[in-house]
Amino acid sequence: YAGDPILGLMDAYQADPRPQKVSLSIGLYFDEACRLPVLGAVRQAEEALLREIGPRPYLPMHGLADFRAGVQRMVFGADHEAVKAGRIATLQTLGGSGALRVGADFLHRYFPASAIWVSDPTWDNHRVLFEAAGLQVHTYPYYDAATGGLRFDAMLECLQGLPRQSVVLLHASCHNPTGVDLSAAQWDALIPVLRERELIPFVDMAYQGFGDGLDEDAFAVRALADAGLQFFVANSFSKNFSFYGERCGGLSVVCRDRQDADTVLGQLQAGVRRIYSTPPTHGARVVAKVLGDARLLASWTQETAGMRIRIRAMREQLHAALHETFRGERDFGYLLSQRGMFSYTGLNESQVDRLREQHAVYLVRSGRLCISGLNNANVEAVAAAMAEVIRSA
Ligand code: LMR
Repeated sequence: YAGDPILGLMDAYQADPRPQKVSLSIGLYFDEACRLPVLGAVRQAEEALLREIGPRPYLPMHGLADFRAGVQRMVFGADHEAVKAGRIATLQTLGGSGALRVGADFLHRYFPASAIWVSDPTWDNHRVLFEAAGLQVHTYPYYDAATGGLRFDAMLECLQGLPRQSVVLLHASCHNPTGVDLSAAQWDALIPVLRERELIPFVDMAYQGFGDGLDEDAFAVRALADAGLQFFVANSFSKNFSFYGERCGGLSVVCRDRQDADTVLGQLQAGVRRIYSTPPTHGARVVAKVLGDARLLASWTQETAGMRIRIRAMREQLHAALHETFRGERDFGYLLSQRGMFSYTGLNESQVDRLREQHAVYLVRSGRLCISGLNNANVEAVAAAMAEVIRSA
């Protein structure tokens, strides 16, 4: 095994003895003190659960009922018509990746002629994950290297030409790896194309709350549901609960009506039974408790806002330091316009290698930089290291 392009770097970082090392590769949110936070709401929920700890039976194949209801409220909004109509099939999954895989298996089984189209570029693991489920993976234009923005017209044109029932993987917000998102107006222009071409949207929402807010980041999902489309959503609690190792995610399939949703849920259960049988209890109980308790929910919402605000502040500081160094001779505005944990720096593989080897600054080789690994103590040094590799190129 040649190793994973993202997880392999985490191993290399951990083995690196240099004290000044900075991890900007894997998508982990570190706080100002460079620690993975244990959120207060999560801790309180866990303490309460410890007091009332009971037996741990197998969960149903589709997971814990309160967790699934919490996923629907968070992803679609409690009052959404699709939630109230019971026309969403929601499954507790092993993180966002588990949701993608269970959804991919379902799609391959019921739409064997459909290929999937992913953004160019996309998360390094999307392609292998969908290929492993048997789907052919193609790309649609997305990132504009010249502007650090979106090639929206090219994207739209490509999607307009896809065969009926092609699957289109879309990032709800905080695009991984580029940080480049569609605006509300662009979603509004895209949705009729998806509908008219009878495409099957598969939305990946791994960073809800890290862009503009919990509801704001779900705009695309809710707009698709409002427009009456049938589609898939994978969501994750890894980042916004700082809950990486608990593997808590959800797969929701928005259907025409309750009867279809029941049928789809049944087939998803069958898919789960074929892979891992049933999901685990602990993390789901914690998430369900936080999302189901008004006080804990309010506290978690605030903590999510705190993480989002710190990420924004780090974007601004890195931008300011680079802007100052280059005195306007190079534009780093992409750091401010891109959203969420990641920015695409445009650094090439040899520049990224030099950053790691000479400066102990770890980025993914695509040039993706995880903003949330920056803090007041390291941001200047990172900017100086970036400046050095840019100038030496
Ligand atoms: C990332 O993109 O860094 C995260 O989603 C973690 C992973 O599994 O790759």
